[in-house]
Amino acid sequence: MPADLARPLRFAVGGDVRHSQDMMERTNRALLPYDPDFIVWGGDLAYDDGRPDRVDRWYEFLDAIRRTLVTPGGRVIPVLAAIGNHEVRGAYHHNIEDYAPGDAWQREYAPFYYGLLAFPGHPGYGVMDFGGYLSVLLLDTDHSGPIDGAQTSWLARTLAERRNVPHVFPSYHVPAYPSVRNPEGNTHRRVREHWVPLFEENGLKLVFEAHDHVYKRTFPIREGQVHPGGVVYVGDGAWGVSTREIGRSHREATWYLDQGHADRHFILVTLHGAQQHLLVVNEDGQIIDEYPATPRR
Ligand SMILES: [Fe+2]
Repeated sequence: MPADLARPLRFAVGGDVRHSQDMMERTNRALLPYDPDFIVWGGDLAYDDGRPDRVDRWYEFLDAIRRTLVTPGGRVIPVLAAIGNHEVRGAYHHNIEDYAPGDAWQREYAPFYYGLLAFPGHPGYGVMDFGGYLSVLLLDTDHSGPIDGAQTSWLARTLAERRNVPHVFPSYHVPAYPSVRNPEGNTHRRVREHWVPLFEENGLKLVFEAHDHVYKRTFPIREGQVHPGGVVYVGDGAWGVSTREIGRSHREATWYLDQGHADRHFILVTLHGAQQHLLVVNEDGQIIDEYPATPRR
């Protein structure tokens, strides 16, 4: 990665990566010509559900990367991946009777996530700093450990220490502001209760979410309302999965959605100096959103 942003840095964001080889590879193929520096996937990768008998899904997942995420020059596009419900046997730690905080439990219940991916490793969340210009935070939305407690304290400290970093992006699986599911669901409420106030206090502009299997972009939100100085939540995880109906479980509660498309897609983020720009491209290579919109002459 560059030492600074004198040259633009470009990375792709998405989630919910592989229901089928064909769907994952279509989106990968649409991305490759953009030559991203790296990819951030916000959970639900190979859909192993933490089950050792599903190891084949990882062989197929890695095969898709070999076939469609290597540039013509031979560069394998690096990936940072957060944990989702489909990486964990039982999906959420609080569903599991013998949940015991710690590395041994995580290794047993999410064997592929912790066994195959070098970052973030235990305890399931972490920050990657790029020079002094970019920090990507990967978080765990209650899958292999709780949202609240140690993770929230770490998040508060980590964001405070990076107040002078111009680009700070959290990526995690279950959205604070879901596009398909009911926002009163337990995990959505817990993200809003514990993390959203920290995002707002620290002046974050963009946060990446997944899990609902459509494309969404919210209005800027602060204190539960549309606010020009608020945080924009972009997601919602439809890289290589079947899409869903927007607002299916909460038609009355979509006040926060600015954009929504039931398309498989990736979000291409370009950073140049202080500028942040998003281009959202579907599996057919069509641009479905741009933010902020480029002024037309
Ligand atoms: Fe999910």
